[in-house]
Amino acid sequence: MVRVWVTGGAGFIGSHLVRHLIHTKSDWEIHTIDALTYAGNLENLADVLDHKRHIFHKVDIADSNSVENLWTEAPPDIILHLAAESHVDRSILSPLDFVHTNVLGTVTLLEAARRHWRGRSDTLFYQVSTDEVYGSLAEGEFFSEASPYDPRSPYSASKAAADHFVRAYGHTYGLPYLISNCGNNYGPYQFPEKLIPLTITHLMERKPIPVYGSGQNVRDWIHAEDHVRAIDLLIQRGQRGRTYLIGAENPRPNLEVVRLLCRLYDELTGSSGSESLITFVKDRPGHDFRYAIKPSPSLKALGWSPQVSFEEGLRQTIAWYLSHPDWLDRVRSGAYQDYYRFQYGERLG
Ligand code: NAD
Ligand code: DAU
Repeated sequence: MVRVWVTGGAGFIGSHLVRHLIHTKSDWEIHTIDALTYAGNLENLADVLDHKRHIFHKVDIADSNSVENLWTEAPPDIILHLAAESHVDRSILSPLDFVHTNVLGTVTLLEAARRHWRGRSDTLFYQVSTDEVYGSLAEGEFFSEASPYDPRSPYSASKAAADHFVRAYGHTYGLPYLISNCGNNYGPYQFPEKLIPLTITHLMERKPIPVYGSGQNVRDWIHAEDHVRAIDLLIQRGQRGRTYLIGAENPRPNLEVVRLLCRLYDELTGSSGSESLITFVKDRPGHDFRYAIKPSPSLKALGWSPQVSFEEGLRQTIAWYLSHPDWLDRVRSGAYQDYYRFQYGERLG
């Protein structure tokens, strides 16, 4: 039995990953650590939560005593590290939360891993990271593994710091690690604060859809299931001590994405005129202009390619939100309302 610890498994990508591992790895025991912040939700794991090979632990990854106790009880063979504060707009409002989880939390895990893995080389610390650590591109440029780190938001600075710590532990202590940097994920279970789920929920409620600035900023989109399949392959066959870029070669200006969502929503629901909801609002401070990824050639050579086309993935995602109104109501109760008022109150009047 291989013992795998997934941090952030109750979040958006983490829940896709835990479900995937439970269904495809019959000899893996999966432990999820998650603090269940506003972004973490046990409902995301409902179908696997009580599975006989899954154990859930509500713990803050920066709480070293708790992590130590858990790993003394059930030492990990593999750590898949996804827990993070992940929303750029929130990082602009409260950077220290990002330092706590993304920097201190990561180093706390690395310290515990170093203690528990002394003398072992058959282990893996897998750091799930972002293309945002590479900064912002000009038109026609792409990120590659050779791109220098140039983080420009508190979120990306905290993820870059975490990546550097992972490499430092590999170099200094010989910790077996792997890092992958991926572009913008979308799909079911994404908290409705990021562009795609926010647009879908505003379409459902016929509310103005806030597009920052000119809408010409570019993001490179990938379905979370394609990201998870790449992570799975890299766990099995990725070279330790290396970094891989994961992307579906799907860079698009935000306005194009929002217009596409409006069209698909109208087709799926029989509504009309959704595009009239698009509202240009005050830009995000320090808004990176363009992200676009050349996925690692070695990842493609291992046999990975994205399986979900953007239109089909968006159709499926819209359908998922339409059929989960209770999930939406519950995740948007309480603190979400305060954040939403602060972030969009003035912008949308
Ligand atoms: P998310 O915000 O949906 O989920 C994050 C999870 O981490 C939540 O379940 C939350 O409860 C948990 N968490 C937060 N702080 C914690 C703490 N101190 N201790 C324990 N758990 C804590 O994030 P996501 O979009 O699923 O992203 C997952 C990972 O993938 C992150 O590391 C993120 O940087 C990275 N990533 C995300 C994207 C994307 O587009 N969403 C793209 C590339 C990389
Ligand atoms: O690139 C990978 C990163 O993608 C991940 O590491 C982050 O965790 C994830 O949040 C995402 O960051 P972005 O800032 O790119 O995602 P977001 O959905 O917040 O914004 C996408 C684009 O849409 C960005 O250019 C800002 C714009 N936007 C966003 C929101 C929330 C709007 O125009 N209006 C909005 O209301």
